[in-house]
Amino acid sequence: MPNLEEIQRLCLSRGILFPTAEIYGGLSGCFDYGPIGVLIKRKFLDYWREFFIKNEENIVEMDGAVVLPEKVLLASGHVNSFVDPITQCKKCKSIYRADNLIEEKTGKFVEGKPVDDLTKIIREEKISCPKCKGELSEVKFFNLMFKTFVGPTGEVTAYLRPETAQNIFISFKRVFRVMRGKLPFGIAQYGHAFRNEISARQFVIRSREFSQIEIEMFFDPTDEGCENFESVENVKILLLTRDAQINQGEAIKIKVGEAVKEKILPNKWMGYFLAKEFEFFKSLGIKEEKMRFRHMLPEETPHYSGGNFDLEAKFDFGWKEIVGNAYRTDHDLKNHSKFSGEDLSVSLPTGRKIIPHVVEPSFGLERILYFILLESYVVDKQRGWNWLKLPKKLAPFIAGIYPLVSKDGLVEKAKDVYKMLKEFDVFFDESGSIGKRYARADEIGVPLGITIDYQTLEDETVTIRDRDSTNQERLKISSLKELLIRKLKDNI
Ligand code: ATP
Ligand code: GLY
Repeated sequence: MPNLEEIQRLCLSRGILFPTAEIYGGLSGCFDYGPIGVLIKRKFLDYWREFFIKNEENIVEMDGAVVLPEKVLLASGHVNSFVDPITQCKKCKSIYRADNLIEEKTGKFVEGKPVDDLTKIIREEKISCPKCKGELSEVKFFNLMFKTFVGPTGEVTAYLRPETAQNIFISFKRVFRVMRGKLPFGIAQYGHAFRNEISARQFVIRSREFSQIEIEMFFDPTDEGCENFESVENVKILLLTRDAQINQGEAIKIKVGEAVKEKILPNKWMGYFLAKEFEFFKSLGIKEEKMRFRHMLPEETPHYSGGNFDLEAKFDFGWKEIVGNAYRTDHDLKNHSKFSGEDLSVSLPTGRKIIPHVVEPSFGLERILYFILLESYVVDKQRGWNWLKLPKKLAPFIAGIYPLVSKDGLVEKAKDVYKMLKEFDVFFDESGSIGKRYARADEIGVPLGITIDYQTLEDETVTIRDRDSTNQERLKISSLKELLIRKLKDNI
């Protein structure tokens, strides 16, 4: 399996993702998408929308501001509770996330423990600074939000949103009303989130600015109305239960219908989204055994949550969350009602008023893209170069168009083909040998190569080279559009 460094090298050399402010030495934890990255990201977002939103009658989208007033984050609990425990070396002043450090040194899982307990463990286990062996300070909490001040007088305190979800809760009343909503009702949003992580690391896995795609699904807990649940109840997912985690067991394969019936999952909406996520990633070529849902342990679960199920992917360095799924109950709307004084309840057809409950799938785009790149990367000694077996739907371009040589009218003919296919994402490349051009295209996962040669001038045919098999066939120029449409419909 390729590793993080190889993917990072590819991202840099092909302008997929690279450090922000690179010419100034970068800004730790922040990345820019380059031309190829933008295309892959856009395709992912389009496919995500097609899969999760387009076929749902009751999910709408919004796009909120990234700067939020302090009150919003006081109500949500982030000002007081969005914290990580830190400890500092008294000698070299390096700062560490205390729970991670303890886990690395002792193998003990301590996430969610109070700071005093963490200090005690550091002392008992004689954990010192990994860099200089210096003594570590008492553990204290550090708030992960970026604070800012709005306006010239700086009187209004605000924060960069730590999750996109809060825009949805604070806009719920208006969006529900203008869309003449009725429960169940979902609001989805893609956008940037910001966390001043203690140590940004592992490339984009832990960054300080990243992209989330979230759905808040609002429903009546006494009558969920998850009409499409039947279509997914037989989908089998891999689930790492709390018992299995405590007893070092394996994930079990279970139908979501059964998991809901046995109350392992708190409700049908949670089951619905877990099944959809599993199917979504499978349709992108991710193998089942590389994904599992982990029921978060009680000490990791927020106090208001009725259950969190992380979709974890198996990376080169181990399992890591790529999608968080939370049953947030009525916590957020209730608190925003209280803090804003606005009634955020909904009238049911019976006349009864309720604060809706919420299930939230939260996708971290960069972690997912990195995982897909990792899974698609083929080390190919035989071919002589490494390449990306990207799902066709996510490929930055569907085809490259190449004149075999830059003379005898082949460039002009190739340009005509390029113009004819411009409604698709195609590119034109005439520089270097044809082998080099194939290699460059393979490296960024372009599924097809269309080569214009001398025979083209005679009979209007071109060669089509397939990225995966490297096989070539001849086709009429007039059938190219149909071919590209067909290829784009392929899932994998
Ligand atoms: P972790 O435990 O790894 O810090 P988290 O529990 O804080 O993750 P959530 O708060 O559930 O993550 O956020 C939802 C999703 O947002 C995650 O599944 C992940 O894909 C993404 N995400 C969260 N923090 C980061 C980050 N610092 N960098 C990149 N993506 C992130
Ligand atoms: N909205 C879930 C999270 O970011 O934690």
